[in-house]
Amino acid sequence: MLGLLVRLSEYSPAFRRFLWRRWYQYLAGYDVSYWHFMNYGYEPLEPSGERLELLPSDEPNRYSIQLYHQVASAVELRGLTIAEIGSGRGGGSSFVHRYHKPASTTGLDFSAKAVRFCQRTHQLPGLSYVQGDAERQPFESASLDAVLNVESSHCYGSMPRFVGEVHRVLKPGGHFLFADFRVPEVAAELPRVFEQAGLEIVEHQEITAEVLRALSLDSERKLKLLEQHVSSRWLPTFRRFAAIEGSDVFEHFTNGTFVYHRYACRKPV
Ligand SMILES: C[S@@+](CC[C@H](N)C(=O)[O-])C[C@H]1O[C@@H](n2cnc3c(N)ncnc32)[C@H](O)[C@@H]1O
Repeated sequence: MLGLLVRLSEYSPAFRRFLWRRWYQYLAGYDVSYWHFMNYGYEPLEPSGERLELLPSDEPNRYSIQLYHQVASAVELRGLTIAEIGSGRGGGSSFVHRYHKPASTTGLDFSAKAVRFCQRTHQLPGLSYVQGDAERQPFESASLDAVLNVESSHCYGSMPRFVGEVHRVLKPGGHFLFADFRVPEVAAELPRVFEQAGLEIVEHQEITAEVLRALSLDSERKLKLLEQHVSSRWLPTFRRFAAIEGSDVFEHFTNGTFVYHRYACRKPV
């Protein structure tokens, strides 16, 4: 069902915007203080190099954090002014701010409830959260060194309008660091959308297999959490949303109905 809704929403921007906004407003109402991430995660297929060292308090969220790390590591963020669009429950902006050390990080989300949760939960100098729309961002033109966007853009009404906004708010030479899933025919259009907005693609990686590996490894833990916090009526919906092993959304990643891509783009000087 969730898979069908995502497919339908590919063809109707208004339906897509309505559907996802209602869903995330609802989710933001869950006052679970340690629930900080809403992405499918990332785990390398071959252990290459050093494993990301995390504080013990960050370990439970390793796979979601690794997705952020993979996206954010495309460029050096230390000392920069950055924003994350679609920051959700705020764990990603907090991780990037603490480990990649930008000078300032602003998480933006459409859900006012999620923003209030983040403002209470993640309090650090230089880290802030604001309510706003990805397609009409409240940032000055040419004010940001980098914009991050993790597993949020599939909710937007217009990808070209969003990427146009990213181009506007980036300084010349600034970077757009992106990851999300799509059906393959829509994923194939992404490079054209980035380039038509005036961004150059500097890195691209299909990460479906790595996301699937994270989903497999994290399924048992996530299911236990869902069983603790979600009523039995809502459990089937949440199993799909979280792409728990055995759900149709997990199958969609296995059989190629959904593919997951990461890009790093640059606004030319
Ligand atoms: C799957 S969650 C991902 C959250 C976070 N990036 C993470 O990885 O944990 C998608 C988020 O995008 C937000 N979102 C959806 N449409 C948006 C829009 N038009 N503007 C800003 N945020 C939006 C939702 O409210 C939700 O918090």
